[in-house]
Amino acid sequence: MKVLIVGSGGREHAIAASVAKSKKVEKIYCAPGNGGIAAVAECVKIGAMEFDKLVAFAKEKAIDMVIVGMDDPLVGGLVDEMEAAGIPTFGPRKNAAILEGSKAFSKDLMKKYQIPTAGYENFEDADAAIEYLKKGSFPVVLKADGLALGKGVLICNTLEEALEGVKSIMLDKQFGSAGNRMVVEEFMTGREVSVLAFVDGKTIKPMTSAQDHKRAKDGDQGLNTGGMGTFSPSPFYTKEVDDFCKKYIYQATVDAMAKEGREFKGIIFFGLMLTPNGPKVLEYNARFGDPEAQVVLPRMKNDIIEVMEACIESRLEEVDLQFEDNAAVCVVLASDGYPLAYEKEKLIQGLESFEGKEDYYCFHAGTKLEDGRILTNGGRVLGITAKGKDLKEARKNAYEATTWVDFENKYMRNDIGKAIDEA
Ligand code: AMP
Ligand code: GLY
Repeated sequence: MKVLIVGSGGREHAIAASVAKSKKVEKIYCAPGNGGIAAVAECVKIGAMEFDKLVAFAKEKAIDMVIVGMDDPLVGGLVDEMEAAGIPTFGPRKNAAILEGSKAFSKDLMKKYQIPTAGYENFEDADAAIEYLKKGSFPVVLKADGLALGKGVLICNTLEEALEGVKSIMLDKQFGSAGNRMVVEEFMTGREVSVLAFVDGKTIKPMTSAQDHKRAKDGDQGLNTGGMGTFSPSPFYTKEVDDFCKKYIYQATVDAMAKEGREFKGIIFFGLMLTPNGPKVLEYNARFGDPEAQVVLPRMKNDIIEVMEACIESRLEEVDLQFEDNAAVCVVLASDGYPLAYEKEKLIQGLESFEGKEDYYCFHAGTKLEDGRILTNGGRVLGITAKGKDLKEARKNAYEATTWVDFENKYMRNDIGKAIDEA
């Protein structure tokens, strides 16, 4: 098979590495890819939002399966365009990707189908939101409705902060058109867990659990980022939690989408909060998490292409999804200054240390290949993943591997996976 992966981050590198292990695959392309993906796939210079060019390329190369990794092209309808051209594509169509594309939609869906989530109200008008907030209690959570690179969520401790938040989301449009609508949500407390699941429109098969660290600095301080590191499995995701989610959240979400005429095929990412009143949905994403994929996929035993084909062909029921009985930790190496200003074009050294080391992975997030050298090309640069027999060993291994590579202004958190000590 010939496969085209759309995206350019650490997640797409993790997907490409899994696809490369498939017995069924003879050639992988990635658009646009990055410096690390280039080692397993042929990178083509087409942007993830250049739908016409992507479709033309897929037709020209007789691609057998397209895998869309990123949220923007999914929400924009790339899957629909590929399917219209007769190319089997893994990912939700536009009318289903709205599960991630509109938080107001997903909240209304959960309410209608009684899927546990925080109480909320949707607003299209800043004045109405302000009136509502004046009567409310704090903290409160404001969410821009649309895609905002994981940054459109504001936790406000006082009315003043909330009014400032309404201004930045709805009036100043800090997150662009994502702020045309806004969700005001009840603040929840508890541990966060991510569960990614394969979905074929009717059947859902959850993968092993993971946890992200979203803040830039140790101790969950600093600004929100795309994710500074992950571990899998989460020791807080117990059998009891799993049973609850299977009963009230996972299948309920798939069934709700089907009933709405928005059959979902692809990956649903459940962002869960384990509250004192049971697990509740924080958010849905319509794709693999980044950097969750970097700890979940290396632990998957199945041939990823076989699972994806089963999703596309609506026969996921037949698949016995299996994960290794071990653990993985991913530490993101970023450019100092991320998520604000940072420098690029720094030479990365030591990448060869990962060659031939089976349980260690160096996933490239923001790198580029230039004249045979790998340079930094983004805020999140590399995701260093290691496996171990348990989380402690995986964490030790991952941090050891972070010393193998170096570049100017290398920055990382030193407490990825530390929460497991409390488990
Ligand atoms: P989201 O993009 O919706 O996952 O939100 C980003 C982060 O904001 C989450 O990972 C949580 O840490 C936090 N958050 C979102 N919604 C809530 C909520 N209702 N209560 C408390 N924290 C929240
Ligand atoms: N790591 C969170 C996300 O991919 O949205």
